[in-house]
Amino acid sequence: MTEMDKHMDTQSTLVESRVGDVSVLSVTLGDEVRTRITTLQDQFRDVFNKYLNPDGSETFFISPHVFQIIAGIIPIAFKQLNAKMGAGDSLQSWEHENISAILGKALIPDSLSPTLSNARAIARDVAEFHAGRGRVVIRELCTGAGLATAMTWMEVRKAGAEGVTIISTDNALESVVTAALVLSIFNIPHVIIQGEVPDALFDFDGVVLQYMDAGDAVRNEQGRSKQYSVVFSDHGISYFPQKVNDEIIGSLLGMLTERGVMYVCGLEPDVTVALQYPFMIREILFGRGLRRDAYTQIRQGRERTRAKGDEQSVIYDTTVVGGRTAVTRFYTPESAGLYDMLHAFLFNKDERSLSTCVLYIRSIIGVVRTTKKLGVEIRSPIEHSLRFVGGLMEGKYDASAIPPFEDGKRVARTLRVQMI
Ligand SMILES: C[S@@+](CC[C@H](N)C(=O)[O-])C[C@H]1O[C@@H](n2cnc3c(N)ncnc32)[C@H](O)[C@@H]1O
Repeated sequence: MTEMDKHMDTQSTLVESRVGDVSVLSVTLGDEVRTRITTLQDQFRDVFNKYLNPDGSETFFISPHVFQIIAGIIPIAFKQLNAKMGAGDSLQSWEHENISAILGKALIPDSLSPTLSNARAIARDVAEFHAGRGRVVIRELCTGAGLATAMTWMEVRKAGAEGVTIISTDNALESVVTAALVLSIFNIPHVIIQGEVPDALFDFDGVVLQYMDAGDAVRNEQGRSKQYSVVFSDHGISYFPQKVNDEIIGSLLGMLTERGVMYVCGLEPDVTVALQYPFMIREILFGRGLRRDAYTQIRQGRERTRAKGDEQSVIYDTTVVGGRTAVTRFYTPESAGLYDMLHAFLFNKDERSLSTCVLYIRSIIGVVRTTKKLGVEIRSPIEHSLRFVGGLMEGKYDASAIPPFEDGKRVARTLRVQMI
């Protein structure tokens, strides 16, 4: 038995408590592991801010060591929650691998970038249209590892709303438990429930993690005339069949408050990623930690010379694989920042940490491998959803794609809809 196994049951505890009359569960990290996570996050913060968050604002990040710790705790916390909620069999190793890959997206700044932009856009909408009008209730579908949930909470909290509730639904218990662990790292209050969300929890200051099918949850709350200021789904409902996706979008739009807003983010089905690893290794080893500035200049230079409609070549190099556009190289500030940071772990006197660099690269390779294996089909692309919303009560909603389709091919896009 390893040291880790001996401490297993102290790593996370399932706590039962009450909100009003409602009995709820939450996941609490053990003191020892919490202290370790805080120390590791603090150590990583400076270097992360330097390379990936130059304005130094409070933002979401997970150190590679913390990623490994949380991935190790998931089966323990799952066992505890499953004993209460009875999801069926214990966590299967492939499910663990899948949710770890979803969590591991936290280590890939380019994958996280649309999620972070959307969280910031939601916060701007809340500040402009909803702050000062009572509690802001936000509805999320398909929680996954809770990365979008945590980011949205952190950003919206800066928007000046009196109270914020995020209600988030996932039909996989391994996702619910992972999201609970992620929220715990950032001290974001959460409760876990099974079945319909009781009225009292629409006033809960924090995140309500609901273990339920997304479609059932929406139908239930539509029947109870619930309303939300914001609804969002990040890499969630776009995987649903079009009929289900459309029914959910149609219902949710009808449940928005005045000036309420919807964000649905999904991968683009005609773009894939086929990274050139030798290029990345060259960048990390010989990029001399100067790529961030260089790429900004490259982008500005190309933007001046390239025609509109060819925008994708500004941020990606692409090739064609099996009839689909495949991104081979990213020229984004996020990827440049990542190469610079990994370079710093290898060569910069003050930031040198070979173990962090190796762990980071190993974790990313694992995440990419599992994500490729998963290969889940995007059945309801953003283009489809935009067309669907366009056909609904024209003049009542303002709908757009971010970035617009005229900007060319992208790995991911977002549908934004606002009640006029
Ligand atoms: C790619 S993940 C979402 C990632 C998430 N946005 C994050 O930030 O970590 C998709 C999630 O949708 C969930 N899901 C799939 N079908 C569902 C359904 N019918 N109802 C609720 N959740 C569902 C999966 O269990 C998975 O956790």
